[in-house]
This record gives sequence, C-alpha cells and structure tokens, in this order.
Amino acid sequence: MTETPEIKKGLAGVVADVTAVSKVNPETNSLLYRGYPVQELAATQPFEAVAYLLWHGELPTDDELAELRRVEREHRPLTAAVQAAIDLVPLGAHPMDEVRTAVSVLGAAELAGTGSVLDAGGSVEDNLARSMGLFSALPAIVAYGQRRRRGQEAVAPRDDLDYAANFLWMTFGEESDPVVVDAFNRSMILYAEHSFNASTFTARVITSTLSDLYSAVVGAIAALKGPLHGGANEAVLHIFDEIGDARNVDRWLEEALASKRKIMGFGHRVYKRGDSRVPTMKAALDELVAHYDRPDVAALYDALESEFVARKGIYPNLDYPSGPAYSLIGFDTLTFTPLFVAARVTGWTAHIAEQLASNALIRPLSLYDGPAERHIPGYVPDAADLVAAARAEEQG
Ligand code: COA
Repeated sequence: MTETPEIKKGLAGVVADVTAVSKVNPETNSLLYRGYPVQELAATQPFEAVAYLLWHGELPTDDELAELRRVEREHRPLTAAVQAAIDLVPLGAHPMDEVRTAVSVLGAAELAGTGSVLDAGGSVEDNLARSMGLFSALPAIVAYGQRRRRGQEAVAPRDDLDYAANFLWMTFGEESDPVVVDAFNRSMILYAEHSFNASTFTARVITSTLSDLYSAVVGAIAALKGPLHGGANEAVLHIFDEIGDARNVDRWLEEALASKRKIMGFGHRVYKRGDSRVPTMKAALDELVAHYDRPDVAALYDALESEFVARKGIYPNLDYPSGPAYSLIGFDTLTFTPLFVAARVTGWTAHIAEQLASNALIRPLSLYDGPAERHIPGYVPDAADLVAAARAEEQG
C-alpha cells in the first residue's frame, strides 16, 4: 500500500524555489531587498532607485538613476486605449478590477502583432522594458481611477516632479508637502517586494508556463485583491470607520472576537512576532498624524493595536499603518490596494525575470479524495479503453 503523502495546506512551510530578490527572516523580523535592509532603503532612497535595485540587483549610479527617471517620465501619460478601457469599467466596480483591466489592455496593445503564444514571452531586454513601462504607467492608472470616481478629469503628469511627488500630483491636482511625499515614497518602498507571497507566487506560476509578463501581472493583481492579502489595507480603514473612536475599541473588539471575525491588518503567514516593515511605516504615519494634526487617528490606532495584541498575541502587519496613512494623505479607501499594485509591480516583475532565468513549469500534485471509480450505466468499453485499463493494471 502506498503511503499517504503529507499535505501542507496553503503550502505553509513549503520552500518552493530559491530567490535572490528578497529575504524575509521571521526570526530576526528582517526583510532584505537584494541584501539591503528595507528600513535603510526607505530612509535613504527614492522608490525609483529601489525599483532599479530589484530589477538589476544593485542600486543605480547617479547616471543610471537619471536614465531610469527619463524613461519613467516618457511612459507616464495615460494612453488613449488605456483611458478608454478604464472608462468602460462601471464606476461602481472595485478599482482593482479597473487596474487589472487597464494592465490587460496595456499588455494587449504592447503585444499586438507578436502573433503566436510562442513569441509573446519576449527576451530579457523586452521584459525589462515591459517592467519599466508598467512601473511608469501604473500611477496615472491608479490616480485617474480615484479622480474618475470623484467626477474629476485626469491630471497630466509633471516632468519636473519625481515618481512619488508626480503620483500625488496626478491624484490630487496639487503639489504635496515634502513630508507627505516622503511618507508616500517610504510606503511604496515597503510594499515593493516580499518574496513568495500569494500574488508573487501567482506571477511565477503564470510565468512558468512561458506566458507573457502582462498576463503574469494581471494574475498577480487578481491574487492581491483578496482581503487575506493586499485587500487588507482597505479592510483596515473599514474597521477604523466602524469603530469610530478610540473609546469604542474595547466593546467593538469584544464583539468582533466573539463573532470570530478576523481583524484585518493583524497577523502574517511568515512573521509571527511582528512584521519587519511596521515600525518604518508607523513612523511615517506618526509624521502624517502630526502634519495633518489628527491625534484621533493615532489614538484609535494605538488603542486597537494594544487591545488586540494583549488579547490574541497577534501583531500588526504593514497594512495596519499604511491604511490610515493613505487615508490621511487623501486617498479614498478603495484606492489603497491599487497603490499596493503600483508598488508591488516592481517585485512581481523582478520575480518574473528570475523565474524565466531558470524556469521549470510549476505543477504540483494532489491527493484525490473524491468518489471511487464508477461507470456510466450501459457504457460498453471500446478497444482503447481496454488497452488503457490493461496498462493501468500493469503499472499497479
Ligand atoms: N484576527 C483574528 N484572528 C486571527 C488573525 C486576525 N487578523 N490572524 C490570525 N488569527 C488567528 C486565527 O483565527 C487562528 O486562530 P485559531 O488557531 O484559533 O483558529 C490563528 O490565529 C492562526 O491563524 P491562521 O489564519 O491560520 O494563520 P495564517 O498564517 O494562515 O494567516 C493571515 C495569516 C494573514 C491570513 C491571517 O493572519 C489573517 O487573516 N490576517 C488578516 C488579514 C490581513 O491582515 N492580511 C494581510 C497580510 S500581510
């Protein structure tokens, strides 16, 4: 009798492949991008330099950064096709559906003429250019989505502003204070990469079939939408809205836990003693709280965190501070997960390149527990069935 294989539900604890893109170490609560601690990158680098690091393995020289910024500026404007596609998405749809559609249309336009599926994959250089294109185009897609829902026109990009400042400009149509730009830049860096999380793994699975980069990113966006993954930053704000005030935390939490609710923004599959990215994002949130003079937000944040940690011993993840931070900056709650897409596209595309560089089709096995073999009444086996049955018997 064959031994029953052990099933690792949710692939928990399974090491699926090697990666040089990032290292998550739950023991030391640390996260390294290409060897650099993410806190150091957030404190010192513009997001563009971190994107370069993830793709190339090294931080850019001044000239390399200038060149990346030149190309990024070139690809910023919404193309007519992408804007038209976004306008076709109902206003009531979730913006993640809008972003997913926009990337799909952008990819279809870019790949038009490649013909066979065999030709869509592209070279290493093609994929690097496609990664840059998506990285550069996503801010306008996300910004236009929020503006459209507010009944506003798209705002054209500004060539005199770097990535983070221009992203905020295209969203709000006004220049943001440097404190706000800096906090936003840090959030983008913290969200950029996190090894084999669900969306990145999805991108790698799709890439492993030799499908194209755009298809892999569309799949990754779909995975990120779920509230157990990227959707949690949006869900945190819904919880804040529900609680309303720090004084209500105790009663609210009592009821939420009694009804076995998951408290969004807490817990992590890998980190069990705290998420390495939280202190950096919490510091950014504190600066925003001071800038906008909103101590009520900090009070609610602290009260829910301390109550929940005391009761469950489960710590906040990055979505917990980033949700209220994005809200203070002025992003609509529904825009939070699309912001995550704009950041994580750098990590996804770095993993797509890595997967392609030493590809093996990702195709695990399963243990069947459905009905035992049975047959359609009256069906008479033909010769091919008999041969197949004999072969199966031979092979045991
Ligand atoms: N709220 C309440 N209980 C939680 C919790 C949360 N946020 N996170 C974990 N738990 C509890 C579970 O209910 C479970 O309790 P049980 O053993 O009594 O059933 C236990 O902790 C283990 O949780 P589990 O969901 O099995 O762990 P996991 O490693 O599969 O889950 C998450 C990780 C992220 C899916 C989970 O913590 C979660 O759902 N968090 C909320 C969503 C979120 O913030 N996601 C963003 C992640 S970056």
